[in-house]
Amino acid sequence: MNYKQIISACEASAHLVSMVPVERVVEFGYSIGLNSDTSVLDFCCGYGEMLNLWNEAFGINVVGIDIHEPFIVEGKTRVRGDRINLIAGDIFAYSDSKRYDVVVCTELSAGLFEDFASGIAFIEKHLKQGG
Ligand SMILES: C[S@@+](CC[C@H](N)C(=O)[O-])C[C@H]1O[C@@H](n2cnc3c(N)ncnc32)[C@H](O)[C@@H]1O
Repeated sequence: MNYKQIISACEASAHLVSMVPVERVVEFGYSIGLNSDTSVLDFCCGYGEMLNLWNEAFGINVVGIDIHEPFIVEGKTRVRGDRINLIAGDIFAYSDSKRYDVVVCTELSAGLFEDFASGIAFIEKHLKQGG
C-alpha cells in the first residue's frame, strides 16, 4: 500500500471546499481533454485544489480567483510548480483580456448569479471561441 499517496489524497480532499471526490475531479479533467496546452480560469476556486490536481495530472496552465483571502493564502502554500496563479478577489471585479480554453465556476447554481443563464453568460466572456 502506498501510504504517501493515500495521505496526499486525504489532504487534497480536505482542500476541496465543494467536497467533490478527488477521483471525480481527475476523471472530469480527463473527460474534457485537459493537457499541457490547456489554459483554465477557475472562478471561486477556494484553495485552488482542483487546479493543483489538474496541474499535477495534466500539466495545465491556470488562474484561480476567490474572494476569501485566507483560502488563497493557504492555497498558495500548496501550489506546486509555476503554472498556477491564485488571486484573492471578487470575480465580478476581475478583469482579464486573455481568453481561456476552459472556464469553470462551481457556484453557477449556488445563488451567486441571478440565474443559471446569466452565470453561463458571465463565464463565456472569458472563453476562447470553441472553448
Ligand atoms: C463551495 S466553495 C467552492 C470552492 C472551490 N470551487 C472548490 O470546489 O473547492 C465556494 C467559493 O466561492 C467563493 N466565492 C463566493 N463569492 C465569490 C465572489 N463574488 N468572488 C470570488 N469568489 C467567491 C467563496 O469564497 C468559496 O471559496
